[in-house]
Amino acid sequence: MSNIHRRDFLRSSGMAIVPAMIPFSSTLANDPAKNESASPGIIKFFGDGEMFEPADYLQELNQIQGNSPIVKDRYGTGGAVEALEKKFEAITGKEKAIFMPSGTMANQLAIAVLSGSNAKVIVQETSHVFRDEADAAQSVFSKRLVPLAKNETGFTAQQLKQAIEDLKKEEVFFSGIGVVSVENPVRRADGRMVPLDEIKQISAYCRSNNIKLHLDGARIYMASAWSGIPVKEYASYFDTVYISLYKYLGASGGAILCGDKKIIDQMPHLVKIHGGNMYGNWTNAAMALHRLEGIETRLQDARKRGNEIFSGLHKIQGISIEPLENGTNIFRMKLGNNLNGKNLQENLNKQFNIRIGAPDKQNQVLLSVNETLLYRNAEYVINAFRNSL
Ligand SMILES: Cc1ncc(COP(=O)(O)O)c(C=O)c1O
Repeated sequence: MSNIHRRDFLRSSGMAIVPAMIPFSSTLANDPAKNESASPGIIKFFGDGEMFEPADYLQELNQIQGNSPIVKDRYGTGGAVEALEKKFEAITGKEKAIFMPSGTMANQLAIAVLSGSNAKVIVQETSHVFRDEADAAQSVFSKRLVPLAKNETGFTAQQLKQAIEDLKKEEVFFSGIGVVSVENPVRRADGRMVPLDEIKQISAYCRSNNIKLHLDGARIYMASAWSGIPVKEYASYFDTVYISLYKYLGASGGAILCGDKKIIDQMPHLVKIHGGNMYGNWTNAAMALHRLEGIETRLQDARKRGNEIFSGLHKIQGISIEPLENGTNIFRMKLGNNLNGKNLQENLNKQFNIRIGAPDKQNQVLLSVNETLLYRNAEYVINAFRNSL
């Protein structure tokens, strides 16, 4: 939500009074950000996007409607849903895109259709498909997930090749490999990326061995913003790609799945039989469509703002901030033993409307860069940290 709209809403809802009652430290007296008009929104150093509260969501939808009336879909056909699908076909360069009620369904149906009658599906051990989809592949789709690279970001092309060759030797009744699924960036590896070179080699190996390749690209925009590799290029190495609509595109849920027409054309029937065919989907589709406009620029702005903030925080005694290897928008803040991380978290929240996660046993906190960092200038945030210690 633009600051202007957020401020208007907060003022009219009376919420702008709340921060005015909070005593700012006197050392902030010369802070230019202090003079910004009231309450530009909560800065959240976790998550990948703004994750709108209901009032903000409605405000944003109202603005979209004001610019051009939203056209509703019917069971995912027509209106904002169709417009969103067209947009994603252009973004990913795939023949066809389809709105899905969830990323879990997008992953599962893509894997099921791509693998056909082959049961084996190779995944990262850390992937959402392996760890966080309630064994749907095994229990609903009769697939056997073969996890590689335990606790790692991903497997290399060499490890993949070796695993497939080993399976051939180890099993008497060898059945084919249905699909290889790659998650990038990896949520359980704190947003670390599978290197592009590895993706290229995995893709080349799969194509030359007639193995289909699926991308769980829930956060592919984060990978793209930090690696500089366009979403379309990432998509080009895969047969299907899923992208989340709610993690950083503002929607309250939903996913998009893109691929060849002959694959995507099988989806509406499968979505229906799994109970995912919802009558109206336009609230999510209209929001994501709107938030796609300028997403790359906003993420680059957030990235720059994050860098400014982190280099300022780095200068505070006892604080150091470091990027993760092959990382995206998640950074590690280390606090010296003499600093009370819990107090920092509480003071930032209560006095400055800034949220960070709780420090761990090593007094470290992971900080995520997202669009909420754009609500205030870097100086405000740096001073807030300094005065919260
Ligand atoms: C990497 C990844 N894939 C898939 C999903 C599933 O998305 P959904 O919540 O829409 O089912 C998530 C959600 O957390 C995720 O992080």
